[in-house]
Amino acid sequence: MLVYKTVEEKMKRIDKVGFLDLDIDPTLDLFEEIEKLKKEKNAILLAHYYQEGDIQDVADFVGDSLGLAQQAAKTDAEIIVFAGVHFMAETAKILNPHKTVLLPDLNAGCSLSDSCPPEKFAAWKAANYPDHKVVTYINCSAALKAMSDVIVTSSNAIGVVESFPKDEKLIFAPDKNLGAYVAEKTGRDLVLWNGSCMVHEIFSYKKAVELKTRHPQAQLIAHPECESHILELADFIGSTTGLLKYTQKSDCKEFIVLTESGILHKMRKESPDKIFHAGLSDSTCACNDCPHMKLNTMEKLYICLKYGAPEVTVEAETSKKALLPIQRMLDISAKLGL
Ligand code: 13P
Ligand code: SF4
Repeated sequence: MLVYKTVEEKMKRIDKVGFLDLDIDPTLDLFEEIEKLKKEKNAILLAHYYQEGDIQDVADFVGDSLGLAQQAAKTDAEIIVFAGVHFMAETAKILNPHKTVLLPDLNAGCSLSDSCPPEKFAAWKAANYPDHKVVTYINCSAALKAMSDVIVTSSNAIGVVESFPKDEKLIFAPDKNLGAYVAEKTGRDLVLWNGSCMVHEIFSYKKAVELKTRHPQAQLIAHPECESHILELADFIGSTTGLLKYTQKSDCKEFIVLTESGILHKMRKESPDKIFHAGLSDSTCACNDCPHMKLNTMEKLYICLKYGAPEVTVEAETSKKALLPIQRMLDISAKLGL
């Protein structure tokens, strides 16, 4: 066990290596400790639906990317602890440059965000589509947001794209699957960046058909980050919040869920009388667990709140530029009643 003489020493170590070698008293009730620390420090805990169940249960707000950004924009708390991935915490920091934003594990990245390096995107746009406006999915870096005209999430992408004049030339980045879905729904000719999410691309068409055959009374529901041939099988397509609400309202009692597995926790909690089957990949791995989202744990969350680290920062100029398209998204969403 490593011994730290001072809190500063411990925090330095956290910043450097993360939390893996930090000692935590195994008899601690982490739920109680986290609740206590949140009150003591005037901190709000925001969690995405893809977090493990315990983190969702201890959070002050659980939501999809839009809901989380809206909560981050209106909180009075001094500290925002973001149980999600880096781009989400970055968005919260851009909305709150003077607040402390903490992410339990700084390595919690996103394959979709990584699939669109900002400098490559800038060169590609300049060479091919200099006059296009840029509509960017929130799953991207702050630097890419700073180059965008408006940000979207999976719950408002259709409405935001429709807010542009019909003849406006638009690039949609970085998710080609969500982009193709939005293009089909809006009838717009969107130029798509070739990015995707490693979790949503892994679902197997064959396994989905097998699940439908085995559970003929179940409805298949899917996130629009899935590939188009998977979406063709779906009875309902929506963001994580959209999917959750659908399962709550629907008369159907059984669902096959094609998105990250974390959402099943909330679905089962909200509708204990209904049956939920997770979508499958072609292999036997738990590929529908996002490895980035699942880097956060209750232990890391506790340490993060206790020592106020690791902190997410965004370079000031980038932050100022990125705020405009994020704010535009929040304003359009408010107008759309989302
Ligand atoms: P939503 O939160 O918009 O449903 O997006 C899912 C996702 O992949 C987040 O990383
Ligand atoms: Fe990124 Fe996909 Fe994980 Fe969401 S589920 S954080 S899009 S890799």
